[in-house]
Amino acid sequence: MSEFAELKVDGKLYKLPIIEGSEHEKGFDVSGLRAESGYITVDTGYKNTGATQSSITFLDGEQGILRYRGYPIEQLAEKSTFLEVAFLLIYGHLPSGQELFDFKANIKKHQLVHEDMKKILQGFPSTAHPMGVLSSLATSLTAFFPESLDPNRSAEKINLTILRLLAKITTLVAWSYTNARGIRANYPDNSLDYVSNFLKMMFSLPTEEYEVDPIVADAMDKIFILHADHEQNCSTSTVRIVGSSHANLYASVAAGINALWGPLHGGANQKVIEMLQNIIANGGDAKKFLDKAKDPNDPFRLMGFGHRVYKNFDPRAKILKAQADKILERLGVDEPEFEIAKQLEEVALKDEYFVKRKLYPNVDFYSGIIMKAIGIPIDMFPVMFTIGRLPGWIAQWKEMRNQHEPIGRPRQIYVGNTEQAYVDVGDRS
Ligand code: CMC
Repeated sequence: MSEFAELKVDGKLYKLPIIEGSEHEKGFDVSGLRAESGYITVDTGYKNTGATQSSITFLDGEQGILRYRGYPIEQLAEKSTFLEVAFLLIYGHLPSGQELFDFKANIKKHQLVHEDMKKILQGFPSTAHPMGVLSSLATSLTAFFPESLDPNRSAEKINLTILRLLAKITTLVAWSYTNARGIRANYPDNSLDYVSNFLKMMFSLPTEEYEVDPIVADAMDKIFILHADHEQNCSTSTVRIVGSSHANLYASVAAGINALWGPLHGGANQKVIEMLQNIIANGGDAKKFLDKAKDPNDPFRLMGFGHRVYKNFDPRAKILKAQADKILERLGVDEPEFEIAKQLEEVALKDEYFVKRKLYPNVDFYSGIIMKAIGIPIDMFPVMFTIGRLPGWIAQWKEMRNQHEPIGRPRQIYVGNTEQAYVDVGDRS
């Protein structure tokens, strides 16, 4: 392979160093191009721009491959647990038995949240969307741990912030759920594993005993694993770019939550179920919605379909579809949305419009069906995505800081007015 790509502009030749990754992905380094030639590269939406060199997650969208630190997502979903995956992403290797034991114990130690957080929560009206609440609470953590404002502290201190975030997020989510419903907040139960504790804090009522259903806990754990990282997506790039200004980890993660909230990203899981329910309410005519999605004059899109990087099956969607089948059967519930989703997928995958554009179901297409079946309210689906994605954001933020990446600051081609003289208000026509 050549070491340089050659670019000829205005009769002059520029050499752009070629970078090759461990999976043979190739790129040109254009960072010095403007200084040498006066040209920048333009790529709105960063469709073909590598923002970093990362060793966390490998994704091959053409083959439908996803690996965290080299481990295939299929194996992790089958054999691992969410906290083990979190450790893998953040610290770079699968933990030894002792490391996993210590990691879990450390997280348990930090699950309690300051009582004053309840006052902040109570300030939100019950109409507040849980993603807005969660991003505010994530930012609020800076007030309870002001030393975290300095991201240049020792690795040990940064690690404390990491543990606190992982530990407290489930408590914050559960408290926002109970607060919105006017129910007393539940405290963490350190006798339970991470996911069971979360479910108990969410759903346990003071009036009756709450037993965590292991089928539900296992389903939630798998959903978290499947969402744990996805290389340089919109929210992760947000976390990295915010962190690149040396904003602290809580603030960077809060920004990631806001980016994830959008319906084209993590908010899609909520929109998928709403779309499926809409189809059912309109007599179950999936084709009508498919036609709407194909109409260039209609902004409607088939939610849970298509992906910037996957031009093949999203491997997470495959796992989730099989999981949905299994879980609905094990729980003995019948979700009409699942039937409609399967019909919609079948029709879409044969439709020329979707085939030509390589649009396949993505992670959000089936995840909501599982979450609905296990009792997660629909507006909290993106929040579940957030809990799952948190270790990925943390790992990416840490990598960005450890690599001493410069502040993220894209350029632009200016297309506005050229210089014009200021006109006094009375003289304007
Ligand atoms: N329904 C109908 N048409 C679609 C869809 C869809 N879901 N997705 C893409 N297209 C069409 C799009 O209109 C365009 O057609 P044309 O070439 O005729 O203009 C073509 O396919 C390429 O689409 P694009 O918008 O240029 O692709 P993108 O890479 O910019 O967008 C996407 C990717 C995920 C935002 C988009 O596919 C989409 O809006 N999907 C629905 C929302 C969704 O499910 N989001 C979750 C993404 S996966 C989880 C995550 O990462 O958060």
